[in-house]
Amino acid sequence: MSTQTHKEVKKVTTHVLQEMKMRGEKISMLTAYDYSMAKIFDEARIDVLLVGDSASNVMHGHETTLPITLDEMISHAAAVIKAVDRALVVVDLPFGSYQGNSKEALNSSIRIMKEAEAHAVKLEGGEEVVESIKRILTAGIPVMGHLGLTPQSIYKFGTYEVRAKEEAEAEKLVRDAKTLEDSGCFALVLEKIPATLAKRVQDSIQIPVIGIGAGPHVAGQVLVSHDMLGINKDFSPKFLRRYLNLFDEIKKAVEQYVDDVKTGDFPNQKEQY
Ligand code: KIV
Repeated sequence: MSTQTHKEVKKVTTHVLQEMKMRGEKISMLTAYDYSMAKIFDEARIDVLLVGDSASNVMHGHETTLPITLDEMISHAAAVIKAVDRALVVVDLPFGSYQGNSKEALNSSIRIMKEAEAHAVKLEGGEEVVESIKRILTAGIPVMGHLGLTPQSIYKFGTYEVRAKEEAEAEKLVRDAKTLEDSGCFALVLEKIPATLAKRVQDSIQIPVIGIGAGPHVAGQVLVSHDMLGINKDFSPKFLRRYLNLFDEIKKAVEQYVDDVKTGDFPNQKEQY
């Protein structure tokens, strides 16, 4: 157990996250896309599971997050929800499911809540999505915001480099964060921005900021599980800490299995009826 103040909770809710932030207990968040992994993460007492649209990359092999569909996100989310007893499960609204208008945003969110039985939704953007956020909230659906590097806008940015290094973009980001808080978001993801700017944002709003590549001065941290477990070897940004090398571990195990089958070593006497 860490030295941080740590209060046991049966179920993590949006209110629990706010309380954690207030008493200085850091919030842990990871992505999850399937039942088996979600079960392990929940047993390990992760606070928040994000069914991220990064599923588009790590589960479906697309180059960007844009192609994944609402149906596919709902399918991942439904599997994750079945595995979870404690964590708060937040589901990304995929590209094209909310940008059209606020009614579309509400309908997509209702589908996620009804068909997957999720706990909250997340969407990318600042001022331009405020109307949608407010409309989603009218249905009682909690909303998490996402600013900084927003991968659904990759073709506008042109690169996955650190965002908001220039003052004008930093100022807009601080304004957008306040707007999202005022609109009713319960938390905010900040992706790949300078640590000093993330601190400025967290100091200027009350809701928890969850950082990814945004430094330590925020209420919590999120990583893509496939990156931190080393399942995905090709992605090594500076902010990533790898806790395992599962790609190599699994490859070694499968090579051994192939060898055992080929040589007739498997199955042995004890492994048959
Ligand atoms: O889709 C995702 O995995 C995310 C995280 C990077 C926060 O949005």
